[in-house]
Amino acid sequence: EIKSVHAREILDSRGNPTVEADVIVLSHDDGQWYTGTAAVPSGASTGRFEAVELRDAEPRYFGLGVQHAVKNVNEKIAPSLEGRNALDQIEIDRFLVELDGTENKENLGANATLSVSLACAKAAARALSMPLYRYVGGTGAHLLPVPMMNILNGGKHAANTVDFQEFMIMPVCADSFSDALRICAEIYHNLKKLLQEKGLSTGVGDEGGFAPDLPDAESVLTMLVDAIRASGYKPGEDVWIAMDAASSELYNEKTDMYHFPGESSLKGEEIIRSTDEMIAYFEKLTQDFPIISIEDALAEDDWEGWQKLTERLGGKVQLVGDDLFVTNKKRLAAGIKLGTASSILVKVNQIGTLTEAFEAVELAQKNNYTTVMSHRSGETEDTTIADLAVAWNTGQIKTGAPCRSDRVAKYNRLLRIEEELGGAAEYPGLTAFHVQ
Ligand code: PGA
Ligand code: ZN
Repeated sequence: EIKSVHAREILDSRGNPTVEADVIVLSHDDGQWYTGTAAVPSGASTGRFEAVELRDAEPRYFGLGVQHAVKNVNEKIAPSLEGRNALDQIEIDRFLVELDGTENKENLGANATLSVSLACAKAAARALSMPLYRYVGGTGAHLLPVPMMNILNGGKHAANTVDFQEFMIMPVCADSFSDALRICAEIYHNLKKLLQEKGLSTGVGDEGGFAPDLPDAESVLTMLVDAIRASGYKPGEDVWIAMDAASSELYNEKTDMYHFPGESSLKGEEIIRSTDEMIAYFEKLTQDFPIISIEDALAEDDWEGWQKLTERLGGKVQLVGDDLFVTNKKRLAAGIKLGTASSILVKVNQIGTLTEAFEAVELAQKNNYTTVMSHRSGETEDTTIADLAVAWNTGQIKTGAPCRSDRVAKYNRLLRIEEELGGAAEYPGLTAFHVQ
């Protein structure tokens, strides 16, 4: 039985406010009290179709305060949840959706609803003495995710000249998650060494990846291939590369073109690409480099372009929809109908409740789309997504570099889950993909 719901304003990894909620339940089985606490992450390159993150728009914290969202939890959500059964997650989430009453949660704020939704699940798991992944996923939860580990940052996540947002490594050859994590960390350190040798910056971006001034995607990919080799692994066999182009950030509606400001500044000429040129560019990159996955290769509204892209590259690389699908089952259903992309990025705060995020995962898995559990560029010490990746057997997780505790906390949580699962734990390697 839910006894209290309380939210507060805390800070995320960029030093901006975010919402944290406590849900306290009384177990009628043992008469004990249990607390579940959850903090909400926040994006920088947010998709236009995401659920609304309520911000105060007042002078404090440059308008980014979340006191209104906190108030919505404490004054609107809390009174109506108290007395309910915390085990009724679907009902609670449905209630939150109805209480908000809008398509995109602009009334209460998805940051308000998500904090309560997740904290409720955590309190219920505690009351049943179950780890969160077991409570949410049941006896079927056993798959550890392949890390899609971001080791080089660009775009909106760093102040460097790299225009694409994320360059990541995926160690498919590992025989366990812990082995995968070790491989990634070794490559990360070797990349640092290579950057130092070239006199390039080893400062990091929002997700902990390095953020040097490299002129274009080719030079970044070359560095990554060298770092993989330097670590003793075969690129395109043991370890693959994944990218998040975050193209909605590069797209300019006025010109109907993709603009590359960093590449332009280092090359001294204006670099812009049309949709067709982008598709051809990605095709060339996948021919020249061991790329297994590309996220948001095109803008969030370009369904036609995505269809073309999927026809051309869908058989060769995993095409992940982040801003395109925004963890929204309606947008995913539209994509499935049109045959766009082959994978969905799962960010719980894009939709605002645990149940709705699960519905997107379920729809994807039923339709043979792969699923990638994901952090946001603004994170906290909350590790819920590690448990959700295992609970829903997503097979892949994107949660930054092995650097910055907000990122490492998720990997460490997965190490503990793998240890706890023992013989039941499975690391999928290449079988997490439907390509190759
Ligand atoms: P965001 O970036 O959290 O800033 O949106 C992550 C991503 O685009 O995948
Ligand atoms: Zn993305």
